[in-house]
Amino acid sequence: MAEKNLQNIDLSEYPHINRGLDGIVAFSTTKSFIDGQSGDLIYSGYHIDILAENATFEEVCFLLWNDRLPNKQELHDLNSSLRKQRGLPAPVLDYIKNTNKSAEPMAVLRSAVSMLADFQDDDADDTANAIALTAKMPTIIAAFNRARQGKDIVEPLADGSTAFNFLYMLNGEKPGEAAERTMDLCLVLHAEHGMNASTFTARTVCATESDMFSAITGAIGALKGPLHGGANTAVMNTLLTLKEQGEDADPVAFTKGKLERKEKLMGFGHRVYKTFDPRAFHLRKMSKALSEETGHEYLYNWSEAMVKTMKEEKNIDPNVDFFSATVYYSIGIQPDLYTCIFAMSRISGWTAHFFEQKANNRLIRPRALYVGEKNLEWTPIEER
Ligand code: ACO
Repeated sequence: MAEKNLQNIDLSEYPHINRGLDGIVAFSTTKSFIDGQSGDLIYSGYHIDILAENATFEEVCFLLWNDRLPNKQELHDLNSSLRKQRGLPAPVLDYIKNTNKSAEPMAVLRSAVSMLADFQDDDADDTANAIALTAKMPTIIAAFNRARQGKDIVEPLADGSTAFNFLYMLNGEKPGEAAERTMDLCLVLHAEHGMNASTFTARTVCATESDMFSAITGAIGALKGPLHGGANTAVMNTLLTLKEQGEDADPVAFTKGKLERKEKLMGFGHRVYKTFDPRAFHLRKMSKALSEETGHEYLYNWSEAMVKTMKEEKNIDPNVDFFSATVYYSIGIQPDLYTCIFAMSRISGWTAHFFEQKANNRLIRPRALYVGEKNLEWTPIEER
């Protein structure tokens, strides 16, 4: 806000001004609950720790869309609907093959998802579109990653989980059980998170009575930013910068230097959590185990040194993006795909909120405080 222009304004007349809408409640939801003080997260009634231990990503999709767990038959039906929808329309595949190889994967994902709207089945309802988007997003990401490397695109399989199929399409070979479980758990942990910027975007688009593809296209654009989902790629880039420094790498000095220069350290801080992000606990455990297994202990150790320094210096904890970076790195995923994987999971939460918004809609239309001039005289163009 232009602070100098606020001088002549009686702010007591505007009790609702809140930059960043911090703490403002604009919706009710059954999709998730966050306690930022205790560090608890609940998806439609189930604590994230319970889901992390027991649920598959597909079960979480069903849960978020229906506010209850599926029975065996319902899960079977959802799995087969997802599998049937994995393929891409030929023009979307052509776009992926022909677009700029150095385009940002999140930009390609956003454009391809937007294109899908032109090819939806005429009789598809919102549920069918949510299933189609959830099924096709991994195919888009994997296809672009292979196309940009000059490799053949791998067709999706007609069986296997979302996690299994994604790793298969990405690498061209079937993943082992441990890699599939790691990916599946990452999808479970990223599925839903209240009124974050991308979900708010999706609900705002939905509230104009626009369509699901428009809402999700907007949400992907919002997630892409480094203050939101883009932070996981930024975290890995930070760690890789340290790696380039070889023996001189000093994560503590690096962290302190950033803070001294008043720069943000990616993967730390959160609008709601004022304690350790509960998702980060799970990712930290995975990061430690996988880094040891794959010979990347130094990355994990640097991460822990940064966590300790941030806590001591600023009392700020890591968020979901911090340890997810080393998890993805350890299973061989390229850093600029990390935010796409986030999107591939969060599609479940975005679409759940779309259903919820549509069922009880009101246009989202806040106000802005005008701080500009009001009575300027018109100056003819020759005199400006
Ligand atoms: N590094 C250094 N300082 C930080 C960080 C950080 N990552 N995060 C917050 N701070 C400091 C701010 O500088 C500010 O300090 P000050 O009071 O001394 O000026 C204070 O903490 C409050 O920070 P804000 O930016 O006002 O907090 P806000 O709620 O607006 O922002 C955000 C939250 C955007 C997540 C912020 O913490 C940040 O930029 N983090 C880094 C990016 C990131 O990791 N984003 C992913 C978030 S999780 C997700 O979206 C999936």
